[in-house]
Amino acid sequence: MNILVTGGAGFIGSHVVRRLVKNYANYKIYNLDTLTYAGNLENLHDIEDAKNYTFLKGNIVDESYINEIFDTYRFEGVIHLAAESHVDRSITDPLAFVKTNIIGTVNLLNAARNLWKDDFSNKRFYHVSTDEVYGSLGAEGLFLETTAYDPNSPYSASKASSDHFVRAYGETYGLPYVVTNCSNNYGPNHFPEKLIPLFINNIIENKPLPVYGDGKYTRDWLFVEDHARAIDLVFHKGRNHETYNIGGFNEWQNIDLVKLLCKQMDEKLSRPDGTSEKLITYVKDRPGHDLRYAIDASKINKELGWKPSVTFEQGLEKTIDWYLDNEEWLNNVTSGDYQTYYGKMYN
Ligand code: NAD
Ligand code: DAU
Repeated sequence: MNILVTGGAGFIGSHVVRRLVKNYANYKIYNLDTLTYAGNLENLHDIEDAKNYTFLKGNIVDESYINEIFDTYRFEGVIHLAAESHVDRSITDPLAFVKTNIIGTVNLLNAARNLWKDDFSNKRFYHVSTDEVYGSLGAEGLFLETTAYDPNSPYSASKASSDHFVRAYGETYGLPYVVTNCSNNYGPNHFPEKLIPLFINNIIENKPLPVYGDGKYTRDWLFVEDHARAIDLVFHKGRNHETYNIGGFNEWQNIDLVKLLCKQMDEKLSRPDGTSEKLITYVKDRPGHDLRYAIDASKINKELGWKPSVTFEQGLEKTIDWYLDNEEWLNNVTSGDYQTYYGKMYN
């Protein structure tokens, strides 16, 4: 089977690519990535020479390039993760999100449809999406697969739009697809613009920890390898034209999460208890900040037997250990453009 993974040099994509390359020697895995600031081939250095792995540098917005690679490699499956993924960046530059997340997805859908249109059997377009498309919850309730879409940020609006296109290609042209909507991931290789890796890096550097608003926003956190395992399972066993929610059964208010992180970091760095907490600084809130996300993952649990394999405390410890053991990775991604971004966002 020839499988195209898009965005495989990014955070979640690199874990998905590694898993597929290691577990399916009989597949050919093609990783298509344009290597934006978030894409990093260092994430995949351990498998880069594997016989069943090929890296393709290209942009999903480039229609003729996309058509060309579908023609050349005759993919039978697509696992689509490439995206602009950071909410704060979408507030500054929405159009970049429209281009990659919407137009890029439609280019891939068109190429898959053109290649597969005479025989859809044993083909699959897997679109990796987010729980943010459902908008914000109040204090109660969970997102179900049937929850109405209600996106609030340019990022979530672009992901919602791409989800609708995937579904529409299923309804209109019969394209075989699956969509998953997952909650917040954390783990190794996470770019330090997102809450957990940003705060780990700032604690190492003794810099302020910028908590937005009152810190009482809630997210449902999932260890990235558990997401990669869910993607593998849904790609192989999920039902066509279905959506599956994926979540960690693990809700945390930001401020409680940050305090736990501070405690674990103090222990790892042998600093006196309470040192990192002193870095917490409340800053101006994110515009349109969604109050709470929480996933009901009972469909994937009942149908496919998936559930998270690590507790949050275990996953967080693994994550911290990875960052402390990979100082060079962290230094490389926080030099150059990162400093400009950080200055604009936080100073
Ligand atoms: P990321 O930002 O770490 O990685 C995105 C990757 O896509 C990068 O390697 C980047 O170079 C590549 N890319 C971006 N634009 C591209 C383009 N035009 N052409 C080709 N490649 C391009 O993102 P992530 O956090 O790994 O998220 C991956 C996917 O999972 C996204 O679709 C995101 O919406 C979804 N998702 C993320 C989370 C999360 O918590 N991070 C949760 C649920 C769903
Ligand atoms: O829910 C899934 C989504 O999770 C994914 O679709 C997105 O790609 C991913 O980026 C993530 O979005 P969030 O906006 O929830 O993640 P982020 O790490 O940016 O923020 C988590 C929470 O922490 C959120 O309430 C905002 C807050 N925050 C974030 C940053 C970067 C802060 O308080 N301070 C910060 O500096």
